[in-house]
Amino acid sequence: MSAPLFASMDPEASSALIASMTPVEVSRGEVLFHEGEPGDRLYVIRSGKIKLGRRSNDGRENLLAILGPGEMFGELSLFDPGPRTATATVVADGAILELGHLELIAWLEANPKVSKHLLGALARRLRRTNEALADLVFSDVPGRVAKALLDLSTRFGETVDEGIRVAHDLTQEELAQLVGASRETVNKALADFAARGWVRREGRAIVLFDVDRLERRAR
Ligand code: CMP
Repeated sequence: MSAPLFASMDPEASSALIASMTPVEVSRGEVLFHEGEPGDRLYVIRSGKIKLGRRSNDGRENLLAILGPGEMFGELSLFDPGPRTATATVVADGAILELGHLELIAWLEANPKVSKHLLGALARRLRRTNEALADLVFSDVPGRVAKALLDLSTRFGETVDEGIRVAHDLTQEELAQLVGASRETVNKALADFAARGWVRREGRAIVLFDVDRLERRAR
């Protein structure tokens, strides 16, 4: 499995680590942990999708990220001891591997090279978060919708005859929470993209016909 935690390890060592992790089957709607709780383990996604969200005092929800196979979460409360910084909820059925923080520390001490890959993963996440923050301030909603679609396509897109099919598994509400705008505004942007022939919506998936135009709109 390709994940920063197993990168640059010989297959035997990574198999040993995977064997020491607890596999768990998860299904849509299941909450793995809540923001604010103490955390004692991290997770690696084998299959399926996980959303990481935060809730405001008045109950509104914002999504920080949608993660898929190979990605890791739940490590912040280890590297910066404190409560969970987000709520993790399953959006598409799958399987995840759990690793206790204490076991992770032992693993990193025995395999210091892995730390470099974990730092790489954290740095990429910070880069992406900075970009999302700048977009919230500088970009309009259609621009952010275009960017979210392109971002989802890099993780979940598959090439089809007409373009790229992105099975994101998100409801309209979740897509809006990811973009940080109301459902109505996000819907309007998607309807506009569809009317221009750039995309077609298919329930919890979307087909991207014109990636160039979306890229230009996202800038
Ligand atoms: P932790 O704080 O233990 O629990 C919530 C997890 O969500 C956190 O660890 C990270 O793994 C993940 N997370 C928090 N913020 C972001 C972000 N901006 N982008 C991607 N993942 C995040």
